[in-house]
Amino acid sequence: MKIAVCVSGRGSNLVALLEALAGEQQAVVALVLSNRADTPALERARERGIAAESLTDHRDAAEWLRRLAAHGIDLVVLAGYLKLVPAAVTAAFEGRILNIHPALLPEFGGPGMYGHHVHEAVLASGARESGATVHLVDAQYDRGQILARARVPVRPDDTPTTLAARVLEAEHRLLPAVVLAAARAGRPVPVPEPEPQSS
Ligand code: GRF
Repeated sequence: MKIAVCVSGRGSNLVALLEALAGEQQAVVALVLSNRADTPALERARERGIAAESLTDHRDAAEWLRRLAAHGIDLVVLAGYLKLVPAAVTAAFEGRILNIHPALLPEFGGPGMYGHHVHEAVLASGARESGATVHLVDAQYDRGQILARARVPVRPDDTPTTLAARVLEAEHRLLPAVVLAAARAGRPVPVPEPEPQSS
């Protein structure tokens, strides 16, 4: 399975995925794609000899589809990709495009729910747990079928920063687990919830 990972920022989920897939026969990251030419995540890919490209216009579905086809991509993984993917791309890759979100969907998702906004909303709600969700992507933000979730506790003294760090650790385990399961099954499949970690 040839995978494209789409990124907008630092790329820690990308690195976690690359490390998990090292030596894996059934899945390879063939392309890292960004809406920004200067994103650190593209550097992480280039350092490892992986094709790393930036979109000239992230709203242009034809450009997306051309780049994905040029690398023979089977599965698209959004790992910190912050723009809406054009509807023609989600349609062409229906059931083959994943996103990782830093909260327990269906709560705390949708437009504007990214980065620290998510963790601020979780803390403001008084929720006692948060976590990470991997879901299929459709034309709306954070609304596709949920494939896997991992829970972490919310602690009384948490700030958005401390909660984000705990969730990110869970993301780094969850995303590779879902991608490996997809590679073995030949398509994205639901993955049972891992045991909560006591960090
Ligand atoms: C992660 O928290 C992910 O859930 C969200 O954006 C962040 C990306 O972090 N969609 P990184 O670029 O993988 O370090």
